[in-house]
Amino acid sequence: MPKSTLKYTNGEVTVIWKPDTCIHSRICWTELREVFDPVKRPWVNMEGGSTERIIEQVRKCPSGALSYLMNAQEPDSANNPQPDITSEAAEIVNIEIRPNGPILINTDCHITHSNGETEIKKGKTSLCRCGGSANKPYCDGSHRSNGFQG
Ligand code: FES
Repeated sequence: MPKSTLKYTNGEVTVIWKPDTCIHSRICWTELREVFDPVKRPWVNMEGGSTERIIEQVRKCPSGALSYLMNAQEPDSANNPQPDITSEAAEIVNIEIRPNGPILINTDCHITHSNGETEIKKGKTSLCRCGGSANKPYCDGSHRSNGFQG
């Protein structure tokens, strides 16, 4: 059964966590334990760091399980739509093929799924390359246990 997407806010920025996408890289809580503490409930404390520091950390999430929206960007009406990042697509994008692992997109991107749904991913996004992810197109860490060599 899929886990719910959770949101945490400090009034300025909202951190979005998708547990089913998380590959438990530990990067968030080893680098910013004041905000991301897996022992505490809730595990995200938005008062533990500045908005800028939280965004910096969220952008390092390799799976895209953590993302953020500036609260002013919440798509709450036709007058306040999601930002269109497709106009930025002309910039050079850094894509990394991880040994025996996913394709890592190191910047914000716009994903168009096979059913036509679109999604804006902030920071890093990992796409499954082994075919074993239960959360395609995203890597869920299954490559570690399925012996993927690539
Ligand atoms: S590459 Fe990670 S689950 Fe497939």
